[in-house]
Amino acid sequence: MSKILAVFGATGQQGGSVVNYVLNDSELFQQYKIRAITSNIDSERAKRLKEKVEVVHGDMLNRASLETALTGVHTVFAMTAPSLGPEVEYNIVKTIADIAVEKDVEYIIFSTLPSIHELSGGKYTKVTPFDAKAKAERYIRGLPIKSAFCSLGSFMENFQSETFLAPRKADDGTWVVALHVSPKIQWPLINAVRDTGKFVGAILAEPEKYNGKTFCAATKFYSLEEMIAIMSKATGKTIFYERISHEEFKKSMAIPEILADMFVEMLAFLEETGYFGPDGEKLVAWASKNARGRLSTFEEYLETHPLRLE
Ligand SMILES: NC(=O)c1ccc[n+]([C@@H]2O[C@H](COP(=O)([O-])OP(=O)(O)OC[C@H]3O[C@@H](n4cnc5c(N)ncnc54)[C@H](OP(=O)(O)O)[C@@H]3O)[C@@H](O)[C@H]2O)c1
Repeated sequence: MSKILAVFGATGQQGGSVVNYVLNDSELFQQYKIRAITSNIDSERAKRLKEKVEVVHGDMLNRASLETALTGVHTVFAMTAPSLGPEVEYNIVKTIADIAVEKDVEYIIFSTLPSIHELSGGKYTKVTPFDAKAKAERYIRGLPIKSAFCSLGSFMENFQSETFLAPRKADDGTWVVALHVSPKIQWPLINAVRDTGKFVGAILAEPEKYNGKTFCAATKFYSLEEMIAIMSKATGKTIFYERISHEEFKKSMAIPEILADMFVEMLAFLEETGYFGPDGEKLVAWASKNARGRLSTFEEYLETHPLRLE
C-alpha cells in the first residue's frame, strides 16, 4: 500500500519540486501517494495541482487544520513560508512536528538552514530565517520521530526575484553587479524548482540510510566572479563587478531596513565563514553525489530562464 507523503509548500518552489520529482520517479511514485497541503485550495496553483495529486487544506497558522491534514500520513516534507518572522517560523515547524508525533507519522524531512548566529560565534544576529530554521531542526532532532534535513543553498531563481543580485545598467551602458563583499566569495547554488526534489527524493528512497542526516543541497559552489562571467556569456553583455560599501549596498536594495540588514550580514558571513560553515565544500560535494539525479548547472538554469538585460 502506498505511504502518504504530505508536502508543505507544494504550490511553491521547493515543495512543488518535491511533488514533481516523486510523480516522475517510477519507484517513488509506487511507494508514495502525495498529499499536497495548501492554505488556499481555491488558488490557481492548487487547482492545477488537484489534477495530479490529492490537495488538502492545511494552514500553517491553524493547528486544527494541520491535525486534519496530517491524519494518516507516513512522511512529511515540511518547509516554512518566507516573511513570517523568526518566532512564528519556529513555532510553525514545532507545531507541525508535534502533530506529526501525535499522529504517529514515521518520518519528517525538514527544509532547514544553518544557524548563522552560531556559526559566526554570535557576531551576526539578523539573518533570522536561517537561525529560526536551525532552531526548529534542533527541536525535531529531539523528538521521537525519524528525520532528515535538506539545507538548501542559494536559489538560482533569486537572480530573477532578488533585484539586487541582477545586473543593473550603468550610466555608460555597461552592466554592473555591485555588492559589499569580495568577488571571490563562494556561493552554493541550487535550481530550487528543478532540483530540490532530487535531494528529498534520495531521502524518500532510502529513509533509513539518511535518518538524522542533512543534505547541504546545491549543485556546487560558484564564486561571485564566476557567476558574473556565466551571466555575461549567457546574455552577451559585458557585466562588471563593483565592490561598494555596505551602506551603499544597503541603500541600493530599496527594501525594508530589516531585510536589507539581513542581506548585509548574510553576505558578510558568506565571505568570512561560508554559507554552510567551514566544511561547506565537503558537505555540498557529499550531498550532490548522493542526490537522486543530475543537478542543473547555473549555465543550464540561465538557458531556460534567460536574464533579460535591456
Ligand atoms: N531564496 C533562497 O535562496 C533560499 C535559500 C534557502 C532557503 N530558502 C527558504 O525557502 C523558503 C521559501 O521556499 P519557496 O521559495 O519554495 O516558497 P514559495 O515558492 O514562496 O512558496 C511558499 C509556499 O508556502 C506555502 N504557504 C504560505 N503560507 C502558508 C500557510 N499559512 N499555510 C500553509 N502553507 C503556506 C504556500 O502555499 P499556499 O499559498 O498554497 O498555501 C507556498 O506553497 C523560505 O523559508 C526561505 O527562507 C530560500
